[in-house]
Amino acid sequence: MSQTERGNFASKIGIILATAGSAVGLGNVWRFPYLAGENGGAVFIIIYFACVLLLGIPCMLSEFIIGRHAQSNTARAYRKMSGGTAWTIVGFMGVLTGFLITGYYAVVSGWCLQYMWASIVGHMSGEPAYFQQYFTSFTQSGFKPLIWLLVIMSMTFFIVRSGVQSGIERASKVLMPTLFILLLIIVVASCMLPNAEAGILFMLKPDWSSVTHDVFLSALGQSFYSLSIAMGCLCTYASYFTRKTNLSNSAIQISVIDLFIAILAGLMIFPAAFSVGVRPDSGPSLIFITLPNVFQQAFGASQVLQYSMSLMFYSLLTLAALTSLMSLVEVATAFCHEELKISRRNATLLVVTSASLIGVFCSLSLSGYDGLTVLGMSLFDLFDFVTGQIFLPIVGFLTCIFIGWVVPRKVVYDEFTNDGTLRDTFFRLFLFLVRFVCPLCILAIFLHQLGVF
Ligand code: PHE
Repeated sequence: MSQTERGNFASKIGIILATAGSAVGLGNVWRFPYLAGENGGAVFIIIYFACVLLLGIPCMLSEFIIGRHAQSNTARAYRKMSGGTAWTIVGFMGVLTGFLITGYYAVVSGWCLQYMWASIVGHMSGEPAYFQQYFTSFTQSGFKPLIWLLVIMSMTFFIVRSGVQSGIERASKVLMPTLFILLLIIVVASCMLPNAEAGILFMLKPDWSSVTHDVFLSALGQSFYSLSIAMGCLCTYASYFTRKTNLSNSAIQISVIDLFIAILAGLMIFPAAFSVGVRPDSGPSLIFITLPNVFQQAFGASQVLQYSMSLMFYSLLTLAALTSLMSLVEVATAFCHEELKISRRNATLLVVTSASLIGVFCSLSLSGYDGLTVLGMSLFDLFDFVTGQIFLPIVGFLTCIFIGWVVPRKVVYDEFTNDGTLRDTFFRLFLFLVRFVCPLCILAIFLHQLGVF
């Protein structure tokens, strides 16, 4: 299939916003703040920053090089670049990881929609115990989360089916700025609360005594998850970049946006939480149980203010989730479209339907249905574990080895410099990082997760 048939992103800003849309997701607004909360605030943020710089950007750039060079779906891209050897399997694994994540990511995205709706109809106010009970009864109700899962997947379907330029790029150009504006409004409101400085200080003043190797490993894992590394997304999107796109600049800009949004998410959550005396280390339940309660206490003096804060927060969460879902669905869509030779519309339909089915089972597994647990884990946790803790490190590790040691240096150099037209100042550093530093660090997370040390 020729490049014109495949489609391209039309503009530089489209490339940045769409790819940043993939990166900015629940990972930034949900996972980053609770990990920072659990791991000592400022210390975690500094280490996270280093991980993005030294590991995240080189890995992102490696995927860009593969995708842009091969200009095809992720599985075919590895095949093309390796000349059809066993490396093709790594590309397949990338597609599979993206596909498997889609289902359970869509479940949580559906929860965001439900909470957005609950904010509109005024259900987001009550005593602290109310929010706990609300979350439990909603997620375990069986049927309700499924409706929202189907709604968010249908939205994704309509966007992705319209193609790279008129679907993904156009939607990203609207959704990303909206997300940013909503985030800024809540950050300002949160930082103006009484005693907000305590929260800001928590993010700025490092307490080095809280550093353990767990903090490093969480920061490393989070940087990969947040930048959408090793899921086929970056490689697939890069296959729609133009020959003129400066890959290293784009990787830096996208990572900076992702980091900036994560910091803003912290500035939205910590000042409000500290202002009402709630510790922001409640783990995954932070955004669905702790935060509604924080908003209630912080902004409850004016009902309109509290309603609008809660509505804006869940809207921004939904937008963040939607742009990431689009990229996840695109990975498998591009694969089915090109490998099964079916139309883009049918490919999207196939992917959305099958991923929704996985989502349905994941969601039902949380309601305690018999038969939906494997090895003592709910299907939801199992998918999270297999994709995030097993596939992600394997694909990430092998991608670094592939670019660092297998693909001819000349090919990598030509992509890095756009055939010698761009400066190559950081090329050697990049190669050193993907050859040695990145694989070793990824191996360390993997072994740690397996309990080896
Ligand atoms: N990067 C997204 C986030 O921060 C998650 C994601 C991972 C999206 C992989 C696409 C692919 O939430």
